Amino acid sequence: MNIPQHVSIIMDGNGRWAKERGKDRIYGHFEGVESVRSVLECSVKWGIRYVSLYAFSEENWGRPEAEVSGLMELMAKSMVKELSTFLDNGVRFVVLGNRARLSDSLNALIDDIMARTAGGDKLTMIVFMSYSGKWDILQAARKMAHDLIENPGKEIGIDDFSHYLVTDGIPDPELLIRTSGEERLSNYLLWQCAYTEFVFSDVLWPDFREEAFRAALEEYSKRDRRFGKVK
Ligand code: FPP
Repeated sequence: MNIPQHVSIIMDGNGRWAKERGKDRIYGHFEGVESVRSVLECSVKWGIRYVSLYAFSEENWGRPEAEVSGLMELMAKSMVKELSTFLDNGVRFVVLGNRARLSDSLNALIDDIMARTAGGDKLTMIVFMSYSGKWDILQAARKMAHDLIENPGKEIGIDDFSHYLVTDGIPDPELLIRTSGEERLSNYLLWQCAYTEFVFSDVLWPDFREEAFRAALEEYSKRDRRFGKVK
């Protein structure tokens, strides 16, 4: 199997998974955390260096208040619960997104977990929270404008611009997986996915465990990546 360096995942289908069982949507998110753990364990085992997860989009703030607060609480609890798993497995934990919209207490917790796991050198797990691709490009353009005011005439090429994005220092994903049968990017890593391979899985996120993850990697392994050139 051809193992990518960076796998990114749009975790989708938690609500439908819960509905199929006659339960509240939040149960789908609870079970989804188990899939996060499974993907993390497989990634360490298979030697994937970066795993990123779209946990909460800027658009998700528009969901019912109870679901938003339930998700925030779940993410905070999961981070605390998984800290020892991160430390035992050499996982560096990173949260990226519009953190100004998160509560002070959640931000303090994120800073603490990020600092404690900063030495993790096997795998970097990136959780995108309050993130959108358009927001990222806009905040990058703002940073570039400030930079140009201070350094008039500075030449900025494509690689230079990518340093202003929140993903600076993280390689672009070679593979993006979206679960639950939906086939769209939903304002995720718009700039970073310019040459990413997409694999769409019909499996709902709470059921996305080792077998489904392996199947997605096998599909990726068959792809012929040419980057617009001729081989
Ligand atoms: C999409 O399913 C899922 C989400 C918006 C939330 C995903 C978040 C988690 C599983 C928590 C992860 C926690 C950590 C610490 C990384 P949906 O609700 O859009 O499902 P639907 O399309 O069936 O309604």
